[in-house]
Amino acid sequence: MSTTNQALADWVKEIAEHTQADQIYWCDGSDAEDKKFNELLLADGSYKQLNPETHPNCYLHLSDPQDVARVEHLTFICTEQEADAGPNNHWMAPDEAHSKIDDLFKGCMKGRTMYVIPYCMGPIDSPISRCGVEITDSAYVVQNMRLMTRMGQAALARIEREGGFVKGLHSTGELDPERRFIMHFPEELTIKSYGSGYGGNALLGKKCHALRIASYQAKTEGWLAEHMLILGIKTPAGKQHYVAAAFPSACGKTNLAMLIPPEGYVKDGWEISTVGDDICWMRPGEDGRLWAINPEAGFFGVAPGTAKDTNPNALAMLYQDTIFTNVAETEDGQPWWEGLDDRTPKTDWQGRPYDPANGPAAHPNSRFTVSAKRCPSYSSESESATGVPIDAIVFGGRRASLVPLVAEARDWEHGVLMGATVASETTAAATGAVGVVRRDPMAMKPFCGYHFGDYWGHWISMQEKASRLPKVFTVNWFRKDEQGQFMWPGFGENMRVLEWIIGRCQDQLDANETAIGMLPSRDDINTKDLDMDLNVLDELLAVDQQAWQNELSSVDAFLQGYGERVPAALFKQLRRISDQLD
Ligand code: GDP
Ligand code: PGA
Ligand code: MN
Repeated sequence: MSTTNQALADWVKEIAEHTQADQIYWCDGSDAEDKKFNELLLADGSYKQLNPETHPNCYLHLSDPQDVARVEHLTFICTEQEADAGPNNHWMAPDEAHSKIDDLFKGCMKGRTMYVIPYCMGPIDSPISRCGVEITDSAYVVQNMRLMTRMGQAALARIEREGGFVKGLHSTGELDPERRFIMHFPEELTIKSYGSGYGGNALLGKKCHALRIASYQAKTEGWLAEHMLILGIKTPAGKQHYVAAAFPSACGKTNLAMLIPPEGYVKDGWEISTVGDDICWMRPGEDGRLWAINPEAGFFGVAPGTAKDTNPNALAMLYQDTIFTNVAETEDGQPWWEGLDDRTPKTDWQGRPYDPANGPAAHPNSRFTVSAKRCPSYSSESESATGVPIDAIVFGGRRASLVPLVAEARDWEHGVLMGATVASETTAAATGAVGVVRRDPMAMKPFCGYHFGDYWGHWISMQEKASRLPKVFTVNWFRKDEQGQFMWPGFGENMRVLEWIIGRCQDQLDANETAIGMLPSRDDINTKDLDMDLNVLDELLAVDQQAWQNELSSVDAFLQGYGERVPAALFKQLRRISDQLD
């Protein structure tokens, strides 16, 4: 295979020379190729075959113990002007960044094969989709990209038709955290990633292209590239709605996207379908609504906590054709993680005999990679070239206190403020301390490819680009009581909150106006068969005036930190809330 796209052919040749790759292999995306790569990974020890009777075509990959999550301190946005990257990003001048990372790439593929992966983010025939090419020396990355994107022949044909593509260069290198960089050049539509094989660092179509580079393109072209799941909700009356929701990594996107409603809802005829679980590209349509696609074709989900009673749809897809990374293994070769069931695994995520003294058996950020088509709730609309129209946008995070179960923004600008000031406790999805509250605007802190001030301005400007924007909400599933227990049952029960959100979109359910937004009272939430103390629900829907005053001071200081580029509208919204608090 080769290509008629001269720019692509030249770039591949240049990289092959620089990295001194032994061979160049163009991925065609065929089943035969898939089989060949699995065999290769088994043969070189990168894969372990899991029990073929219970888990046909499933593989276990154990990574280097120092390479298990995204590395935000080594991730750079390299724009010509430092100010354009903003305080939200680490910045390096493009020249310096290229020279630093090109040194690492020099000769790094000597004696190895260089894989060329043409891929398309989004349905092959959608005008909203965009293509890229990842060059990598990792067959494990190829197999993940095969599940996560539309890759191979068809993507290459689209690139040859259209011309343009995002360039991504990746090498696992020595896996030395001292020699690891994830560099983005939004102005050149280029990504260079060295020294890590972990999903968010190495599957360049995902966070690197579909969020960091695409957010920059979206700003320039008038659309939105967001860290959001997309979910379909069909009401008993047969009306189809779509919700997009942004939560930080490991804060419940995959779970919400695949939610199974409580029994009573299913009986009444409610249906949930999954369009996407991590990334959403939205564009204003001719009807003034935002139309969204999921640019991905698979799920790269957090394994721990995935179980029959929390996320049965996710569990159901994991018995076949799945790559498991850094999970534990049972005696009979089945994948295992904390929360799955009460079996004791035989070996842990580092391949050692399991010993609780060594910590969890599966790494807290262990993952599964699986095709979206294996998900029982996968929506056929996910393949639609026009995308789906979004009725509601939801922002959320992990907040043990303060933030209510659900609140609705008064208007678009208030909604942008809500999104811009979401805070969440950090998780194992990135290296560093876990459980520290930090602001994570629109869940994009690690993923926005440009200055947050400009990004919020872009969000506000959508008012001029789309006349029928979605309603905006915040949710918080993670409030804790004094004993440290979650106060809200979460998971499937989150359907009750979704019902209120849809009811609000249809102007059918009530809300109380409070300083921080429109909140339901207990009676506005469907509590039929809900197994919880309803006084606790009242607590989850209360507004603590003093605590919110403190929060507003912290929000004010946070926004000030982004300087002059922060839209004045956000400060205006903040003053309005402050004036309304007692
Ligand atoms: P993502 O990385 O944003 O897609 O997050 P996931 O959906 O994979 O969830 C991350 C972790 O949060 C998992 O351990 C889930 O079991 C847990 N989780 C997800 N939804 C809920 C919820 O509604 N309540 C609680 N308590 N935990 C949740
Ligand atoms: P997620 O992201 O936790 O949002 O699924 C994957 C990643 O961190 O690479
Ligand atoms: Mn996820």
